[in-house]
Amino acid sequence: MIKVSGLEVTYVNKNTRVTALTGVGFTLEKGHTCAIIGPSGCGKSTLLYVLAGLLKHTRGEVNINGEPVRPKRRETALILQDYGLLPWKTALQNTALGLLIRGVPKKESLAAAEESMKELGIWEARDHYPAQLSGGQRQRVAIARSLTLKPDLFLMDEPFSSLDALTREGLQDTLLEFWKKKKSTMVLVTHNIEEAVFLGQKILIFSAGPGRILHTVRNYEMGDRDYRRQPLFYDRCSLVREIIERGRGNSAQ
Ligand SMILES: Nc1ncnc2c1ncn2[C@@H]1O[C@H](COP(=O)(O)OP(=O)(O)O)[C@@H](O)[C@H]1O
Ligand SMILES: [Mg+2]
Repeated sequence: MIKVSGLEVTYVNKNTRVTALTGVGFTLEKGHTCAIIGPSGCGKSTLLYVLAGLLKHTRGEVNINGEPVRPKRRETALILQDYGLLPWKTALQNTALGLLIRGVPKKESLAAAEESMKELGIWEARDHYPAQLSGGQRQRVAIARSLTLKPDLFLMDEPFSSLDALTREGLQDTLLEFWKKKKSTMVLVTHNIEEAVFLGQKILIFSAGPGRILHTVRNYEMGDRDYRRQPLFYDRCSLVREIIERGRGNSAQ
């Protein structure tokens, strides 16, 4: 589904050039999940924007479903941290918005919104405005909106990082169940080690900027809510932590 090789991204502004990513290569099979973890500024968001076709890369190849990445691929959903909800629209209207702005008739848009809100357990909150929703509910509305577009690739940029621990776990569970049901391909950027191990079949650990992949941890035993309580889960978290710390040590030398 995703094939990246020799990827380099350099931002060029008036007098400055910042290389955000260099020599990045990985693959992700259809229906698999991958978590990306690394220090702030290592190019995680940059990578997602490239995969979403919103940012042009400087070097290398990026293929999605066997084709070079193209701008605004419709079947790609990008879910950001700040939800992107319109404050003057209700949860239901916000959920339907993605289809409405693509010209889908209102009745059809609302029906699809209802289905995905039910799927995410927020149908009860349909008439509330964003200000009346909790952070977790807002993120669920944002995810529900992207679901109405029937994406086959989910790109998520630290989607739960502003939520408290319990709400966060609830959303992780929802996402896991959803992934198991739909078998969609997911790339999740996070700086939370437990989240990466709970949701990523592959965990790509990035170095400090310019980001490159330090290590890939295989974590194909994930996939069950209970995983959080298993010894293997703790071992994996420790392993990821160790690699991150080692990476930090190297860049400090
Ligand atoms: N529009 C831009 N212009 C110049 N530099 C940028 C721009 N966006 C990001 N950067 C730089 O690129 C690097 C990677 O940024 P980013 O992808 O946001 O990292 P992360 O998401 O891992 O925190 C950082 O050094 C950041 O300052
Ligand atoms: Mg970022």
